[in-house]
Amino acid sequence: MTRVDVGLGDRSYPILIEAGLLDRAVEHLARFARNGRMVVVTDESVAASQLPRLVAGLGKTRVEPIILPPGEATKSWGMLERLTDQLMDHGVERSDRIIAFGGGVIGDLVGFAASILKRGCGFIQVPTTLLAQVDSSVGGKTAINTRAGKNLVGSFHQPDLVLIDPTTLDTLPLREVRSGYAEVVKYGLIDDFDFFAWCEGNAAALLDGDTDARTQAIAHSVAAKARVVAADERETTGTRALLNLGHTFGHALEAETGFSDTLLHGEAVACGMALAFRFSAARGLCPGQDAVRVARHLASIGLPTTLKAAHVNTDGGTLAGHMAHDKKMEGGRLPFLLARGIGQTFLAKDVDLGEVAAFLDRER
Ligand SMILES: NC(=O)c1ccc[n+]([C@@H]2O[C@H](COP(=O)([O-])OP(=O)(O)OC[C@H]3O[C@@H](n4cnc5c(N)ncnc54)[C@H](O)[C@@H]3O)[C@@H](O)[C@H]2O)c1
Ligand SMILES: [Zn+2]
Repeated sequence: MTRVDVGLGDRSYPILIEAGLLDRAVEHLARFARNGRMVVVTDESVAASQLPRLVAGLGKTRVEPIILPPGEATKSWGMLERLTDQLMDHGVERSDRIIAFGGGVIGDLVGFAASILKRGCGFIQVPTTLLAQVDSSVGGKTAINTRAGKNLVGSFHQPDLVLIDPTTLDTLPLREVRSGYAEVVKYGLIDDFDFFAWCEGNAAALLDGDTDARTQAIAHSVAAKARVVAADERETTGTRALLNLGHTFGHALEAETGFSDTLLHGEAVACGMALAFRFSAARGLCPGQDAVRVARHLASIGLPTTLKAAHVNTDGGTLAGHMAHDKKMEGGRLPFLLARGIGQTFLAKDVDLGEVAAFLDRER
């Protein structure tokens, strides 16, 4: 079993990663049960495909499930109210640990509910999508979406434990696996050239369902995220901001496609990373061949790397307009993640949105 610790003083917690962990969940979760029972929050799809395994894996510990509808719309005020009411109906107390069993939607919603229920109770992440296993389950960012946009209401609330079983991905649709994979590659592109090279050599096996490749990719990604979170828990020093590589471009593409199934988050991030590298190359910061290599790898596994492949046919001004609403905007300029090469990402503060708009027009 691989264990990665997120070092946050008295809020430190372990991330355990191993194939089959779900089937032995009792070994790691039973001690958190109260009166022999645990409340598990999940969505309908995960309940159908993976909940029976968790229930069996918990042995004599009785599972009290709360099952919500799947999809991004579940991260809403309405569902937060419904969930907190249900948690109280189940008699959840502050010392309890609520289990968030699902993808990033369930993790973000349950984390937020846990942070406000009875002024804060504990929770455990048991992520079941690749995106959640390599990214959202670690780091304590919780949120719901509101009329004004995505993730604008939330809190920092760290879990007490993260339990990752890569075999839960066996039932995840391939498109979701691929989308989550974009966030894996991201860790290589940020500051780890060797890991990017590993990705080039192992992506095919990973997507094909190879559990060893998946386990290695998850363990490496989670270790990278844990280091960043320990260094900059609340994104105040700029270190954690590096994790947003490809996300400013990507967010504009998601906004343009209405945050819909037309373009999944990881697909937008993949295209955003390809754009960030080409933009860096166009500014003379990064060798053109690095930008080509990044795009070639992402495209080789079926991720979009051009506006056309991302189903976006909008002028650069409109796309840059979406960026202008970014919560990181400072006095007309947006801190932008650019690269000097693969594994050499940095935060640039001198990028003008007009320059980005002109670049995106050339990309059409
Ligand atoms: N908190 C953070 O740091 C952070 C980071 C990145 C993303 N996020 C958030 O994560 C969310 C996206 O998460 P996601 O991509 O995991 O989406 P998701 O939770 O919607 O899951 C994707 C789909 O897969 C289904 N599913 C999940 N696991 C399955 C399994 N093992 N087998 C079969 N089906 C399964 C779900 O029911 C859902 O339909 C977004 O809301 C995003 O804002 C948060
Ligand atoms: Zn992301």
